[in-house]
Amino acid sequence: MKSAIYPGTFDPMTYGHLDIIKRAANIFDEVVVSVLNNKEKTPLFSVSERVNILKEATKDIPNVRVESFEGLLTDYCKKIGVNVVVRGLRAVTDFEYELQMSQMNRKLSNHRVETIYFNTTLKYSYLSSSAVKQIAQFHGDLSAFVPDFVAKLLYERFGYKE
Ligand code: COA
Repeated sequence: MKSAIYPGTFDPMTYGHLDIIKRAANIFDEVVVSVLNNKEKTPLFSVSERVNILKEATKDIPNVRVESFEGLLTDYCKKIGVNVVVRGLRAVTDFEYELQMSQMNRKLSNHRVETIYFNTTLKYSYLSSSAVKQIAQFHGDLSAFVPDFVAKLLYERFGYKE
Protein backbone atom coordinates (compact mmCIF):
# COMPACT_ATOMS: atom_id res chain seq x y z
CA MET A 1 0.00 0.00 0.00
CA LYS A 2 1.40 3.40 -1.00
CA SER A 3 0.69 6.18 1.47
CA ALA A 4 1.54 9.86 1.52
CA ILE A 5 1.47 12.60 4.12
CA TYR A 6 0.12 16.04 3.34
CA PRO A 7 1.36 18.22 6.21
CA GLY A 8 0.49 21.83 6.88
CA THR A 9 -0.81 24.42 9.28
CA PHE A 10 -4.29 24.48 7.68
CA ASP A 11 -5.45 27.57 9.60
CA PRO A 12 -8.00 27.06 8.13
CA MET A 13 -8.17 24.58 5.27
CA THR A 14 -9.12 26.23 1.97
CA TYR A 15 -10.37 24.93 -1.38
CA GLY A 16 -6.72 25.09 -2.49
CA HIS A 17 -5.76 22.51 0.14
CA LEU A 18 -8.82 20.41 -0.64
CA ASP A 19 -7.85 20.36 -4.32
CA ILE A 20 -4.41 18.93 -3.43
CA ILE A 21 -5.95 16.38 -1.03
CA LYS A 22 -8.39 15.10 -3.69
CA ARG A 23 -5.73 14.84 -6.37
CA ALA A 24 -3.32 13.05 -4.01
CA ALA A 25 -6.11 10.66 -2.96
CA ASN A 26 -6.53 9.72 -6.64
CA ILE A 27 -2.91 8.66 -6.85
CA PHE A 28 -2.06 7.19 -3.45
CA ASP A 29 -3.83 4.33 -1.65
CA GLU A 30 -3.94 6.44 1.47
CA VAL A 31 -3.38 10.14 2.21
CA VAL A 32 -2.68 11.20 5.78
CA VAL A 33 -3.48 14.90 6.11
CA SER A 34 -1.67 16.10 9.18
CA VAL A 35 -2.06 19.37 11.03
CA LEU A 36 1.17 20.74 12.47
CA ASN A 37 0.93 21.93 16.05
CA ASN A 38 3.20 24.81 15.12
CA LYS A 39 4.50 26.75 18.12
CA GLU A 40 5.98 29.40 15.79
CA LYS A 41 2.57 30.50 14.48
CA THR A 42 -0.38 31.96 16.40
CA PRO A 43 -3.29 30.18 14.78
CA LEU A 44 -6.88 31.37 14.71
CA PHE A 45 -8.16 27.81 15.16
CA SER A 46 -6.87 25.24 17.66
CA VAL A 47 -5.30 22.02 16.40
CA SER A 48 -8.47 20.03 17.18
CA GLU A 49 -10.64 22.62 15.41
CA ARG A 50 -8.39 22.45 12.34
CA VAL A 51 -8.46 18.65 12.42
CA ASN A 52 -12.26 18.66 12.68
CA ILE A 53 -12.59 21.06 9.73
CA LEU A 54 -10.41 18.76 7.59
CA LYS A 55 -12.33 15.67 8.76
CA GLU A 56 -15.65 17.25 7.82
CA ALA A 57 -14.37 18.45 4.42
CA THR A 58 -12.89 15.04 3.53
CA LYS A 59 -15.57 12.79 5.02
CA ASP A 60 -16.58 11.49 1.58
CA ILE A 61 -13.03 10.55 0.54
CA PRO A 62 -12.50 7.09 2.06
CA ASN A 63 -8.72 6.93 1.67
CA VAL A 64 -8.03 10.18 3.54
CA ARG A 65 -7.14 10.16 7.23
CA VAL A 66 -6.70 13.32 9.31
CA GLU A 67 -4.23 13.56 12.18
CA SER A 68 -2.01 16.10 13.90
CA PHE A 69 1.67 16.13 14.78
CA GLU A 70 4.35 18.20 16.43
CA GLY A 71 8.11 18.24 16.12
CA LEU A 72 10.05 17.22 13.03
CA LEU A 73 8.13 16.02 10.00
CA THR A 74 10.72 13.30 9.35
CA ASP A 75 10.24 11.88 12.88
CA TYR A 76 6.51 11.81 12.31
CA CYS A 77 7.00 10.10 8.91
CA LYS A 78 9.08 7.42 10.61
CA LYS A 79 6.55 7.01 13.41
CA ILE A 80 3.66 6.32 11.05
CA GLY A 81 5.76 4.49 8.44
CA VAL A 82 5.18 6.84 5.50
CA ASN A 83 8.03 8.17 3.35
CA VAL A 84 6.27 10.34 0.77
CA VAL A 85 5.34 13.94 1.53
CA VAL A 86 2.88 15.78 -0.68
CA ARG A 87 2.96 19.55 -1.03
CA GLY A 88 1.26 22.07 -3.30
CA LEU A 89 3.17 24.64 -5.34
CA ARG A 90 1.06 27.72 -5.98
CA ALA A 91 3.60 29.93 -7.71
CA VAL A 92 7.31 30.20 -8.27
CA THR A 93 7.55 32.10 -4.98
CA ASP A 94 6.75 28.87 -3.08
CA PHE A 95 9.55 27.03 -4.81
CA GLU A 96 12.61 28.15 -2.86
CA TYR A 97 11.06 27.46 0.54
CA GLU A 98 9.71 24.10 -0.60
CA LEU A 99 13.01 23.07 -2.17
CA GLN A 100 14.86 23.86 1.03
CA MET A 101 12.34 21.93 3.10
CA SER A 102 12.42 18.85 0.87
CA GLN A 103 16.21 18.76 0.78
CA MET A 104 16.38 19.15 4.55
CA ASN A 105 13.83 16.37 5.01
CA ARG A 106 15.75 14.04 2.71
CA LYS A 107 18.92 14.69 4.65
CA LEU A 108 17.25 14.30 8.06
CA SER A 109 15.64 11.02 7.00
CA ASN A 110 18.81 9.54 5.51
CA HIS A 111 17.32 9.91 2.01
CA ARG A 112 14.18 7.97 2.88
CA VAL A 113 11.61 10.77 2.73
CA GLU A 114 10.78 12.11 -0.73
CA THR A 115 8.58 15.11 -1.48
CA ILE A 116 6.14 15.16 -4.39
CA TYR A 117 4.65 18.43 -5.59
CA PHE A 118 1.28 19.13 -7.10
CA ASN A 119 0.98 22.34 -9.03
CA THR A 120 -2.04 24.12 -7.63
CA THR A 121 -5.07 24.44 -9.87
CA LEU A 122 -4.82 27.89 -11.44
CA LYS A 123 -7.95 29.32 -9.84
CA TYR A 124 -6.44 28.67 -6.37
CA SER A 125 -2.94 29.87 -7.15
CA TYR A 126 -3.37 33.15 -5.27
CA LEU A 127 -5.19 31.63 -2.30
CA SER A 128 -3.77 31.44 1.21
CA SER A 129 -5.15 30.88 4.69
CA SER A 130 -4.01 34.39 5.72
CA ALA A 131 -5.93 35.99 2.83
CA VAL A 132 -9.02 34.03 3.80
CA LYS A 133 -8.72 35.22 7.42
CA GLN A 134 -8.30 38.81 6.28
CA ILE A 135 -11.42 38.62 4.13
CA ALA A 136 -13.39 37.02 7.00
CA GLN A 137 -12.29 39.78 9.37
CA PHE A 138 -14.12 42.30 7.18
CA HIS A 139 -17.04 39.97 6.47
CA GLY A 140 -16.11 39.66 2.80
CA ASP A 141 -17.39 36.98 0.45
CA LEU A 142 -15.59 33.68 1.10
CA SER A 143 -17.71 31.44 -1.12
CA ALA A 144 -14.98 30.90 -3.75
CA PHE A 145 -12.29 30.08 -1.21
CA VAL A 146 -13.63 27.82 1.57
CA PRO A 147 -16.65 25.53 2.08
CA ASP A 148 -19.71 27.23 3.64
CA PHE A 149 -19.26 25.60 7.04
CA VAL A 150 -15.69 26.95 7.23
CA ALA A 151 -16.86 30.44 6.23
CA LYS A 152 -19.45 30.27 9.03
CA LEU A 153 -16.77 29.30 11.58
CA LEU A 154 -14.54 32.13 10.36
CA TYR A 155 -17.27 34.76 10.57
CA GLU A 156 -18.20 33.54 14.06
CA ARG A 157 -14.57 33.75 15.15
CA PHE A 158 -14.49 37.39 14.06
CA GLY A 159 -17.71 38.14 15.95
CA TYR A 160 -20.24 38.15 13.10
CA LYS A 161 -23.59 36.51 13.75
CA GLU A 162 -24.82 34.67 10.64
N1 COA B 1 -3.83 26.19 -1.51
C1 COA B 1 -4.00 27.26 -0.73
N2 COA B 1 -3.11 27.69 0.16
C2 COA B 1 -1.98 27.00 0.26
C3 COA B 1 -1.71 25.88 -0.53
C4 COA B 1 -2.70 25.48 -1.44
N3 COA B 1 -2.54 24.43 -2.23
N4 COA B 1 -0.48 25.42 -0.22
C5 COA B 1 -0.01 26.23 0.72
N5 COA B 1 -0.91 27.18 1.02
C6 COA B 1 -0.73 28.29 1.95
C7 COA B 1 -1.27 28.03 3.31
O1 COA B 1 -2.62 28.40 3.37
C8 COA B 1 -0.38 28.90 4.15
O2 COA B 1 -0.87 30.21 4.08
P1 COA B 1 -0.56 31.27 5.24
O3 COA B 1 0.91 31.44 5.27
O4 COA B 1 -1.31 32.44 4.76
O5 COA B 1 -1.12 30.68 6.51
C9 COA B 1 0.95 28.85 3.44
O6 COA B 1 0.66 28.47 2.14
C10 COA B 1 1.95 27.84 3.95
O7 COA B 1 1.29 26.97 4.75
P2 COA B 1 1.41 25.43 4.90
O8 COA B 1 1.25 24.71 3.63
O9 COA B 1 0.50 25.06 5.99
O10 COA B 1 2.89 25.24 5.27
P3 COA B 1 3.66 25.70 6.53
O11 COA B 1 4.81 26.43 6.00
O12 COA B 1 2.82 26.34 7.56
O13 COA B 1 4.09 24.29 7.12
C11 COA B 1 5.21 22.15 7.12
C12 COA B 1 4.78 23.38 6.36
C13 COA B 1 4.18 21.71 8.14
C14 COA B 1 5.36 21.05 6.10
C15 COA B 1 6.59 22.43 7.76
O14 COA B 1 6.53 23.62 8.50
C16 COA B 1 7.07 21.31 8.64
O15 COA B 1 7.29 20.21 8.21
N6 COA B 1 7.27 21.61 9.94
C17 COA B 1 7.75 20.64 10.91
C18 COA B 1 9.14 20.99 11.39
C19 COA B 1 10.20 20.36 10.53
O16 COA B 1 10.23 19.17 10.28
N7 COA B 1 11.17 21.19 10.09
C20 COA B 1 12.29 20.71 9.30
C21 COA B 1 12.04 20.84 7.83
S1 COA B 1 12.70 22.34 7.21
